[in-house]
Amino acid sequence: MEVNERPVDLSLDPRTSLLDALREHLGLTGTKKGCDQGACGACTVHLDGDRMLACLTLAAQVDGRRVTTIEGVPADPTGRLLADAFLRHDAYQCGFCTPGQIVSALGLLAEGRAGSDADLREFMSGNLCRCGAYPNIVAAIREVASAPVPSDE
Ligand code: FES
Ligand code: FES
Repeated sequence: MEVNERPVDLSLDPRTSLLDALREHLGLTGTKKGCDQGACGACTVHLDGDRMLACLTLAAQVDGRRVTTIEGVPADPTGRLLADAFLRHDAYQCGFCTPGQIVSALGLLAEGRAGSDADLREFMSGNLCRCGAYPNIVAAIREVASAPVPSDE
């Protein structure tokens, strides 16, 4: 598979989740394991550009496909804007959910689903935040959604 634009070749137990492959075999620990059962969104990555829960995806299923994790987000101009906006809006407390929130928000923006704040809450509802930073998360995403589209320099 390709992870953050780099080819990766792994031989794994076929039961290995994509989340464990990333964290334990590739050292990409930015993608978090919250529930490991599809309930929290902490493990959100992009698979061929679409949001996906890495804990519910087998590594074997992504053979030959393109994975982007939080470590790959700085390569995206909108991803950099989002990370900056999360900082300035204090859109986190402990930060555990933040990688998943940012990766998910990047997907939401690409999907064109940032119409209203209600839309933001709806289409980010798969990403839980135990610290309750939701208003600030919405504010950060709203700011980026309202900004001019950045160009890749
Ligand atoms: Fe995957 Fe919670 S760790 S949804
Ligand atoms: Fe702590 Fe979201 S910032 S869980």
